[in-house]
Amino acid sequence: MNCELLIPAAGSGRRMGSDRNKLLLPLLDKPILQWTIEAAIASSSISWIGVIGQPCDFADFKQIFVRLESPKPITLIQGGETRQESVSNGLKALPQTSKSVLIHDGARCLATPNLFDRCAEALQTYSGLIAAITVKDTIKIVHNRIVESTPDRHQLWAAQTPQGFSVKELKQAHLQAQELNWSVTDDAALFEKIGLPVQIVMGEETNLKITTPQDLAIAEFILRQRLQ
Ligand code: C5P
Repeated sequence: MNCELLIPAAGSGRRMGSDRNKLLLPLLDKPILQWTIEAAIASSSISWIGVIGQPCDFADFKQIFVRLESPKPITLIQGGETRQESVSNGLKALPQTSKSVLIHDGARCLATPNLFDRCAEALQTYSGLIAAITVKDTIKIVHNRIVESTPDRHQLWAAQTPQGFSVKELKQAHLQAQELNWSVTDDAALFEKIGLPVQIVMGEETNLKITTPQDLAIAEFILRQRLQ
């Protein structure tokens, strides 16, 4: 099945200790964002890619697009103050014919084409889904540094991207979020808030989100192993 992909890439490098967009930092021989887009191009189920960025990064993003020589159309979309706003802008920029969309954080540059394909396949059956993996740690609910409770680990999954949705329903969810001032960190949370089901697709242990310099070092190690 063919679907569109939005890549939120309009964040900063604050937690990375960088004064520029962390997605432009090099990972081995190319920017983090280039790895992410390459995986999307290699996925057989994605027909159109929208990359959401801040205007100050557009020139660098365009250079990446030129280097990629993508056989798929890549559109540049202006991001917002928050990830939620950036995705909302992305939804407005989708082709009119778009029925279902995958959303994948630019910072998850190790996601494989196979993961995109499995999520796209599941989108044929489910109108809301996320890639996720089971958690290995015991997780605590904490208030003022005091542990309040320990949720049953068997019910806990760590959310990743890609996340996939029916375009119509996700647009509705974003509209409602705007009207009611909801602020969330992923799109599935909006689906949950309006009572729509979100299916789990098995994610990948290596699909980490590059956030700190340590993540960058781990990503480099994983990529070197893949390239051997
Ligand atoms: O900051 P964090 O890594 O959690 O952000 C997740 C993704 O959302 C990143 O790929 C980042 O570039 C993107 N983002 C965005 N617009 C914002 C903030 C973050 O597209 N305003």
